[in-house]
Amino acid sequence: MVAKTWANARDQLMRDPSVTNLNTGSCGPLPRPVFDRVTALRTRLASAPMDFLSRQLPPLLWTARERLAEYTGTRPHRLAFATNVTGAINLVASSVRLAPGAEILLTDQEYAPMRWCWERAARRQDAVVRTFRLPAQPADPAEVVEAAVAAMTPRTRLFFFSHVVSSTGLVLPAARLAEEARRRGVLTVVDGAQAPGFTGLDLDGLACDYYAGSGHKWLLAPTGVGFLHFGDDQADVLQPAQVSWGYHAPAGYAPDERTEFGSTPRLRNLECEGTRDLCPWLAVPAAIDFQAELGHERVRARMRELAAFTRERLSGWHGLEPVTPEHPELSGAMTAFALPPGTGPEVSRELWRRFRIEVPVTGSPDRPLLRVSTHFHNTETEVERLAEALKELSR
Ligand SMILES: Cc1ncc(COP(=O)(O)O)c(C=O)c1O
Repeated sequence: MVAKTWANARDQLMRDPSVTNLNTGSCGPLPRPVFDRVTALRTRLASAPMDFLSRQLPPLLWTARERLAEYTGTRPHRLAFATNVTGAINLVASSVRLAPGAEILLTDQEYAPMRWCWERAARRQDAVVRTFRLPAQPADPAEVVEAAVAAMTPRTRLFFFSHVVSSTGLVLPAARLAEEARRRGVLTVVDGAQAPGFTGLDLDGLACDYYAGSGHKWLLAPTGVGFLHFGDDQADVLQPAQVSWGYHAPAGYAPDERTEFGSTPRLRNLECEGTRDLCPWLAVPAAIDFQAELGHERVRARMRELAAFTRERLSGWHGLEPVTPEHPELSGAMTAFALPPGTGPEVSRELWRRFRIEVPVTGSPDRPLLRVSTHFHNTETEVERLAEALKELSR
């Protein structure tokens, strides 16, 4: 496959031509080569299940892990596959032990189920969750760092934040936040659900303890791909959500040594959940290759170009006010706009019902936001279509 131009790369995506998908932030469309790869693997699983699961799968799993590790800037034996970020963060929250009274610090813009996950972890351990306000529209990354540092107290033991805020597309200065936390002896858990493909990753260069990411958004990998990266100091902390075949290490292997299962004893303990379909994980190299052919940097530059176009086109349009900062380090491929007073989630519903435009309303009930995702597969014409549809709706 040679996907050199945006147009022919776009033609290789499995898109329903009647749908305008401006919502990669929820789920991206699959490139045909990725779909073909996962389908070919599933065909092998269907036709010779035991041969596939026990003999063919292990080397493919290790290769997928190596490729994802290289792509995210870490080592394969520190990267556990997961079904999604929800699973990965829950694994961390149920493993980490906190002293009674310890404080878990969150920004006020975390993805709601992840906040609930920490609230449950806190209840179970007599810890407390505290949130701090992110600056509304920071002009500079330093403003975010200052707000986080000011919120940390001697009782703060764990700091959880999104690398890219789901509701607004605000990119947080993850490296600096993690450094500040580490300097204070605070564990850092980063929710990178939106990050792979949206921004370059160098996980070993981040001073965080845990980093969870997803594949089905900007990376355009199949649904069912997530990962959890953990630091060396945390390797013995993680406990599997389910006890399965990985619970006892094969005799004679060190915890981080590669085994015949395409993992290490430590990773298999976390990943193995009985018999299930791991084909999405195995198709990760196809997803990485697809965008590599276009050039990862070039893809991100195109996303920014489209985001800039979206901001320019929709700011002030029928009462829309941009809330995503313009600073290049604080923004990327999602641009959110505050909706005019008196409007809310029905805007998203009507955009779909009347125009088959997929764009979510995020934010909170008192501050609904229209969040526009622009991956390379989107076009200026699609943004124009959204603008025209919004005009129609405002009549
Ligand atoms: C910041 C953030 N965290 C967590 C999630 C949950 O991801 P998943 O449903 O893949 O587990 C999302 C999904 O949009 C997200 O944006």
